Amino acid sequence: MMPYGKTPKSVLPRYSRMGAYFRLLISCASEYEASKLGNATKQKVLYMVYVTIASWCFIYIHVSCWTMFGERLVRRIRENYLRSLLRQELGFFDEFASGQASSELTSNLDIIQTGTSEKVGICLASLSYFVAAYVVAFMKVPQLAGILVSLLPAYLMMSLGGSWFIKLYTARVTKHLASMTSIVSESLNKVALIHAFGAASQLERKLAEHFTSIKEESNKKAIAAAVQLGLLYFIAYSTNALAYWQGSKTLAHSVASAESNTNVGAVYTVIFLLINASYLISQVAPFLQIFGTATAASDKLNETLERSSRIDGTDLTDGKFLNAIQGSIEFTDLNCSYPSRPSITIFQGLNLKIPAGKNTAIVGRSGSGKSTLAALLMRLYDPTQGTIYLDGHTLKSLNVKHLRSCIALVSPDTPLLNRSILGNIAHGLINAPGLVDDERLTLTDGSLSRLVLRAQGRQPLEQALSSETTAVQRVVRRCIQAAEVAGALDFIMKLKHGFASSTGQAGELFSGGQKQRLALARAVVRNAPILLLDEATSALDSVGERSIREAIQQVAKGRTTISIVHRLSTIKTADNIVVLDKGKVVEQGTRHELIVAGGTYSAMVPLQNMTSGDSPDADRARSGMQSLDNIDVARKSSEKVDDAPADSKQPPKVSADH
Ligand SMILES: Nc1ncnc2c1ncn2[C@@H]1O[C@H](COP(=O)(O)OP(=O)(O)OP(=O)(O)O)[C@@H](O)[C@H]1O
Ligand SMILES: [Mg+2]
Repeated sequence: MMPYGKTPKSVLPRYSRMGAYFRLLISCASEYEASKLGNATKQKVLYMVYVTIASWCFIYIHVSCWTMFGERLVRRIRENYLRSLLRQELGFFDEFASGQASSELTSNLDIIQTGTSEKVGICLASLSYFVAAYVVAFMKVPQLAGILVSLLPAYLMMSLGGSWFIKLYTARVTKHLASMTSIVSESLNKVALIHAFGAASQLERKLAEHFTSIKEESNKKAIAAAVQLGLLYFIAYSTNALAYWQGSKTLAHSVASAESNTNVGAVYTVIFLLINASYLISQVAPFLQIFGTATAASDKLNETLERSSRIDGTDLTDGKFLNAIQGSIEFTDLNCSYPSRPSITIFQGLNLKIPAGKNTAIVGRSGSGKSTLAALLMRLYDPTQGTIYLDGHTLKSLNVKHLRSCIALVSPDTPLLNRSILGNIAHGLINAPGLVDDERLTLTDGSLSRLVLRAQGRQPLEQALSSETTAVQRVVRRCIQAAEVAGALDFIMKLKHGFASSTGQAGELFSGGQKQRLALARAVVRNAPILLLDEATSALDSVGERSIREAIQQVAKGRTTISIVHRLSTIKTADNIVVLDKGKVVEQGTRHELIVAGGTYSAMVPLQNMTSGDSPDADRARSGMQSLDNIDVARKSSEKVDDAPADSKQPPKVSADH
C-alpha cells in the first residue's frame, strides 16, 4: 500500500508523514493476524526510522542556519549602530544620554535576536505542518477534521491571552530590575558621595521598594504561566475526548453502512495530526508577539542607524584639506543657541579675531560662552548664524576630521579613559597631524597594550620597549616627552608601574591636578598647530600652575594658543586678552592695554586678588563678583590695585601671584 493513497507527495511536508505512518501501522494491526503482524509492520517501522533521521537532519540544518542568521544580523546592527552613533554631532547627545544609548542598544538587540534566530524557522516549520495536517485530515475523514478545527480558536485564545499577561508582568519585572541596576551602578560609582551624605539607608529603602515590586510582579507572572499551562492541558485532553468520541462514531457508522473508506488508521491519523498541529500552532502563536516586538525594536534602532549626522567627524571625503595651517581664526556676526535649548541665545552678533601664532586668552564670567566658543571652533556644534573662518576658509568648507586633527583640546572636565597612562597620552596621537604610517599603525594594532601588559609584569617599561619596533619606541618617547612638558613625569615615575599604571574609571585613581597634567600631556603630544586650553590648569596649585604655564609657553611658541581661564594669573603673558560678557566681546587687547583702559578686565584683577583673602575688601568684592554689572562699583571700592602696569597713574603693589 502506498502511503497517503492518491495525495500528491509534494504537498505533504515531512512532519505529516509520521502521522500517516501511524495510520499504516494501526491499519496493519487491524488487517493482519497476530502471526503476520511482525512482517507487515517491519517496512512501516523502517519508514518511520527514515523520517526520524530526515527530521533530525532538517531540524538541525534549519535551526543552526536561523541561529547563525540571527547572530550575524545582530552583530551587523550593533556595528552599524555604534558607527552611526559615533558619527552623530554633539547636539544629538544633548538629548540622548550615553547610558540610554547603551541600554537601548543592548535591550533592543536582545529583542531582535530573540525574534529572528531559530524562532523564525520553528514558526515556518510549524505553519507548514499545520497546513499539511489539515489538507491530509480533510482528505481522509472530512467530518472529523471539520469538528476538530473547532479546537483551534481555544488553543489560540489560551496561547495569545496567556502570553499577553506573561509579557506584561515580565516587562514590569524588567523595568524594576533596570531601575535597581542603575541605582546600584550609580551608587558604586559614587561611593564617596554616598558616605559623605549618609545616603546609604535611603538607597537601601529605594532598593527594597524595587525588590518588593519585583516579587509581586514575579508572582503574578507565575500565576499567569500556571493558568496558561493548565488550560493547555485542559484543552488538549478535552480535544482528545472529543476526537475519540467523534472518531469512534465515524468508525461505527462506516462499519454499519459497510463503507470501506474509513478505517481505524485513517481516524487515528486525523486525530494525531490535528491535535499535534493545533498544539504546535498554539506553541508558536506567542512568537507572533515576539516578531512584532522585534520589528518595533528594529524600527527604534533604525531611527539612529538611518540618521545622517549634521557634523560628521568621521567622513574623509567631504570638505577641503589644507596643506599648512597658520591658525588665524575669525568669528563674524556669531549667533548661537544649543539644540536642546533653542530659545536661549548664547551669542548676539559676536565678532572676534584671533591672530595666528599668538597666545589669546578668553576671560569672562561663568556662563558667558567661553567653552561654547571652543566647541564652535572644533565644530562640535554649528552656529545658528554667522561664520567662522580658519586661515580665511569657512569652517564648514573644511573636512571636519581634518579640522579637528589640527586642534589639541584640553577640556575642563579632563576626561581620561580607563586604561594605562601611556594609553591615555597616546590617545592624543590618534588623528594627530604629522604622524607617519607605522606610528599610526601602532595606535590601533594593540602593540601599546601588549607593551603595557609586559611593563605591568616584571619588565620595566624601558626594558620592554627595547624589544619593540622603532615605531612603537618613537610613539612611547613622544608620550614620555609630553608628560615631562605637562609636569606629569614626577608623579608618574613614583607609581609602581610608571607609564603602565592604570588611571582607573574616568581617571579616579588620580587627583584633579594630576588628571589635568595628564590631559595636558595628551594635548601636547598631538603637536597640533592650534592649542585650545579650556580651564587647563584650574585644578593646579599656584606653584604647579606656574611651572606648567612656563612649559605651555614653550610648547605654544609658533602655535595659535587659545587659553580660556578664570584665574587671571594664568594669562599674564598672553598676547591678546578677550573679555566676553552677555554674548559679546566687551574688551580685547594686551593685558597692559586693558588695565590702562580701566574697563571690565582691570576691575576683575583686584577682585581676584581679594577673593583669596578675608579682609572687609574681600567681602565687598565677593558680593560685587556676583555680576559683572557690579564690577565697576566693586573696583571703585577696592583700594589696592595690584595688577596695574608700571606706567599707569597708580603704580601697582604686587601682593599675590596674579
Ligand atoms: N550642551 C548644552 N546645552 C544647552 N545649553 C548649554 C550647553 N552647554 C552650555 N550651555 C549653556 O550655554 C551657556 C554658555 O555656557 P559655556 O559653557 O560656554 O560658559 P562658560 O563661559 O564656559 O562658563 P564657565 O566659565 O562656567 O565654564 C550657559 O548658559 C550654559 O548653560
Ligand atoms: Mg567653560
